[in-house]
Amino acid sequence: MTVSRMYTFHVAPGREGEIVAAYRAMMPSLRDSAGFIDMRLQRNRDEPTLWQGISLWESTEALDAYAAGPAGAANVQLMDGIPAGSRGPGVSGRLAGRVAVVTGGANGLGVAFCRGLAQHGARVAVADWDDAARERTAAELLEEGLEVMPVAVDVSDRGSTEAMAAAVLERWGRIDVLVNSAAVYTAAPFEEIEESEWDRMYAVNVKGTWLASLACFPAMRELGKGKIVNIGSQTFFSGWPNYLHYVGTKGAVVGMTRALAIEVGPLGIRVNCLCPGLSMTQKALVDVHESIRPGQVREWVDEHVAEQCIRHPGYPEDLVGTLLYLSSDDSDFLTGQTILVDGGWAKH
Ligand SMILES: NC(=O)c1ccc[n+]([C@@H]2O[C@H](COP(=O)([O-])OP(=O)(O)OC[C@H]3O[C@@H](n4cnc5c(N)ncnc54)[C@H](O)[C@@H]3O)[C@@H](O)[C@H]2O)c1
Repeated sequence: MTVSRMYTFHVAPGREGEIVAAYRAMMPSLRDSAGFIDMRLQRNRDEPTLWQGISLWESTEALDAYAAGPAGAANVQLMDGIPAGSRGPGVSGRLAGRVAVVTGGANGLGVAFCRGLAQHGARVAVADWDDAARERTAAELLEEGLEVMPVAVDVSDRGSTEAMAAAVLERWGRIDVLVNSAAVYTAAPFEEIEESEWDRMYAVNVKGTWLASLACFPAMRELGKGKIVNIGSQTFFSGWPNYLHYVGTKGAVVGMTRALAIEVGPLGIRVNCLCPGLSMTQKALVDVHESIRPGQVREWVDEHVAEQCIRHPGYPEDLVGTLLYLSSDDSDFLTGQTILVDGGWAKH
């Protein structure tokens, strides 16, 4: 079966030559690797700083052999030569044999999380209640040669989260990693927040984090190991106008991370929280921000980036390296912690 792997890179304006040079330097050893078919480097049409390298292989075995061999290592070194912060994580087998569940995996950041975990060897359940997006995302990732399955879930419903865990266990027999990314957010001045919206947000963002963790916990306890990665938000550290309800839910997620880490640590389960800064997703930019500052998304992003230490917009792929760290053995002595990945906007 032909398989493909995609690498993503953010290239700072003016530094495009470096990525093109690295690509050219990689090609001879790739052409000599058994089972290699082709590699293309392309610039994303909608986002000119985002580049994608897509390689095509005759089989997963051929790709794995290349990644584990000297040519793969040499090419990783070449990629390491590309300035830090301007490239996405490469492919490794650090999650080989692991099974991950990503709630909210169908859209936005969740897609990058599923892709990143799967590119590094995990089998990934794309768990979401958005039927159309879930099936589309799973199909796209399968097309890229990644091992994923779509699973329907409403994280605010206990029976639904239990069914999610059961479906994953039936197919793959274990759950090593849970990423609690499912959330809802809307913006409104605090006097105008509807009570029903307040309740909905707490039901999904807070109760949903608890219920999904609860559902996956028995499988992790049985393994004697597990990684729960809660997705928080920079907004909790900085406070944001028009997001009182949302910021409260993300504060709860940070607190729950600490409390659960204490309870499950002795069982070998680590619980940490990854807090993204403003990230370029359809939901954050268009659906939500557009509602409070119509037609001013570009200005808003520019203002935000100007306050970051790292002066490029946050893309979903910018979070993946930290997610991999929190999901893999690399972070085995880390638990109850919250890491902000926001280009240095808030300091914590
Ligand atoms: N994009 C940002 O700027 C940003 C910044 C900080 C934190 N975050 C956090 O990152 C995560 C992803 O955000 P995003 O911007 O990608 O949003 P998104 O809306 O694109 O993705 C959220 C996903 O959660 C799913 N979901 C919502 N309610 C659900 C439920 N009850 N059951 C199952 N699935 C449900 C949605 O269908 C969607 O696929 C969220 O936790 C969000 O709070 C995002």
